Amino acid sequence: MASAGRTFTRALRSTPTTSAIKTAAPRRFAQAPKFQARRGYSSEAPKPSSGGGNGLLYGGIAAVLLGGGAYYTLGSKSTPVQDAKTSSAAGSKSGVITPTKEDYQKVYDAVAKKLVDEDDYDDGSYGPVLLRLGWHASGTYDLETGTGGSNGATMRFAPEGDHGANAGLKAARDFLEPIKEQFPWITYSDLWILSACAAIQEMGGPDVPFRPGRQDKDAAFCTPDGRLPDGAQGQDHLRGIFYRMGFNDQEIVALSGAHALGRCHTDRSGFDGPWSFSPTTLTNDYYKLLLEEKWSWRKWQGPKQFQDVSTKSLMMLPTDMSLIQDKSFKPVVEKYAKSQEEFFDDFSKVLVKLFELGVPFTSGEDARFVLKRSD
Ligand code: HEM
Repeated sequence: MASAGRTFTRALRSTPTTSAIKTAAPRRFAQAPKFQARRGYSSEAPKPSSGGGNGLLYGGIAAVLLGGGAYYTLGSKSTPVQDAKTSSAAGSKSGVITPTKEDYQKVYDAVAKKLVDEDDYDDGSYGPVLLRLGWHASGTYDLETGTGGSNGATMRFAPEGDHGANAGLKAARDFLEPIKEQFPWITYSDLWILSACAAIQEMGGPDVPFRPGRQDKDAAFCTPDGRLPDGAQGQDHLRGIFYRMGFNDQEIVALSGAHALGRCHTDRSGFDGPWSFSPTTLTNDYYKLLLEEKWSWRKWQGPKQFQDVSTKSLMMLPTDMSLIQDKSFKPVVEKYAKSQEEFFDDFSKVLVKLFELGVPFTSGEDARFVLKRSD
């Protein structure tokens, strides 16, 4: 697969298309030395989660039961941590630990190292799917009922883990499992969000401040199906989903820029292909491509999606395309296409908001910190 991947990479690198692509190319690839873009085909994707659904459920329940006795009550400003006896975290005294920023940095470093070590996946990095895990954990939030959100990490369990929208995220959860074993004091909920922040930073994105304090919950807290967006729809649907979480139009557009990263997989969502030529490096190319490329419906047997006319190698979902069809969304797309800096600033802010939706922190906003990216 690696050789096929290299061919694909070369094709992407040398394809002359829009000015956006030409001017961005040197910067883009210079920025991503960690992840040599390598294409692994979706047939290499991990087995669908359905087989592991019940195993996950029982495993998860066992973990909750076993973990029950290992929870330690900390001071009101601290984060309850699990299984402290086996923890390597500093400050462990009589079974009570308070993880410090340095402890979280160790987790970050382990994630960053594993991202580099395990580059034989998809386009050469687990980064995009880690970000998608953090987003899907958070994007179940419902402002009105206060349910859902990243607190709980309930996607570990059926039925949530088996929701159609979460197809393929087992790859990200499995990737993080050895890290959880190495740092048992961190909750899954914090680990998933820390890893999403790490993925963005390691893929050349902006700093994303992280605030710990999420606690894991059991399967009873799984959210109902249907809370995440459906790429086959348009702007009304997007507003319905994101307003429910408390976002506005500008924030919807800023969040969507994540689609500069990663790709669609036919065995996951049914859609196919990457949105950008640099799927493991965050840039504002998503917005540039939306505006500067010509897009037409792809002629194929799969779900309705757009493809770029000039190379036929990129894709846009109907929801992506609605950002330039809607008169309130489009000016924001234009703003981010002009300035990567403005996109990065707003992307960081809106991600902090997304990742903290519904989390009952006992600490204030001043407890956020930026973890240091790898060299
Ligand atoms: C606006 C509504 C959104 C829709 C309809 C949508 C839909 C999708 C779909 C269909 C996929 C392909 C999944 C697959 O086949 O593997 C995908 C992938 C992805 N999405 Fe979104 N998404 C949305 C918003 C977001 C947001 C807010 C983020 C993050 C902030 C995000 C990050 C990603 C990433 C990084 C991938 C690539 C995953 C990979 O390469 O495995 N998406 N999205």
